[in-house]
Amino acid sequence: MLRPPTILIFDSGLGGMTVLREVVAARPDARYVYVADDAFFPYGHHSEQEIIARVVPLIGELIDRHAPDLVVIACNTASTLVMSYLRQAYKIPFVGTVPAIKPACAQSQTRRVSVLGTKGTVQREYTRGLIRDFAQGCEVTLVGSPELASLAESALSGHEVPDRAILAELAPCFVGSGETSRTDTIVLACTHYPLLLDRFVRLAPWPVNWIDPAPAIARRVADLLGPAAGESRDERAEMFFTSKKPHTLSRALAPFFGGRALA
Ligand code: DGL
Repeated sequence: MLRPPTILIFDSGLGGMTVLREVVAARPDARYVYVADDAFFPYGHHSEQEIIARVVPLIGELIDRHAPDLVVIACNTASTLVMSYLRQAYKIPFVGTVPAIKPACAQSQTRRVSVLGTKGTVQREYTRGLIRDFAQGCEVTLVGSPELASLAESALSGHEVPDRAILAELAPCFVGSGETSRTDTIVLACTHYPLLLDRFVRLAPWPVNWIDPAPAIARRVADLLGPAAGESRDERAEMFFTSKKPHTLSRALAPFFGGRALA
């Protein structure tokens, strides 16, 4: 029988869990290692040079330690910078997470789309290139949020996060007025944001489509790995935190993952 693959999912923190959730659903037979580089969180506050210098050697160490068959960089702030360096340095398949601008613009009816990401992600040349290539005539508003990823981490750790703090970051995404010309589609360009999606939907001044790239990432992983190697495994992902701080996540994660915490 084929050996079940090991998939390593990497993020600056817990946002990659939103990608892990979808990848597990697509490949329930795989073994999962989840690494949060929380010692360096938030990535959105670091320069491009700092992120490249941090992530490229760290992924090399993780490959040596965990021998994955595939690595998912479940972080837009890192993926929009490091994928070509990783592919050059290491000979295993990588799947990145980048703003889903193409599908968002393809489905917008009002031709007004917002991209909500970290300040780093919205400044990247890579993101600008996606808009040049795939906006398909849509007006795209880039919204760099300084605090949302940290607010999502706080919510996951069981802290109270006030509505006004979330709304302050969200409000610039809503542009225009009148049902036929205002923003109707928002790209969740940071893997932390789907953790707050219920709050976003409730606080939004009008209904929009929220685009989460995680299902497409999961499909890409499944395509690269080929057919499943066996039965579903029931074990949880092994989790590692670069800070080595103790985390008591299971209880806090449960509401975000339909009652079944993955860690
Ligand atoms: N989850 C990360 C992303 O997708 C970034 C959060 C951060 O570390 O700033 O961009």
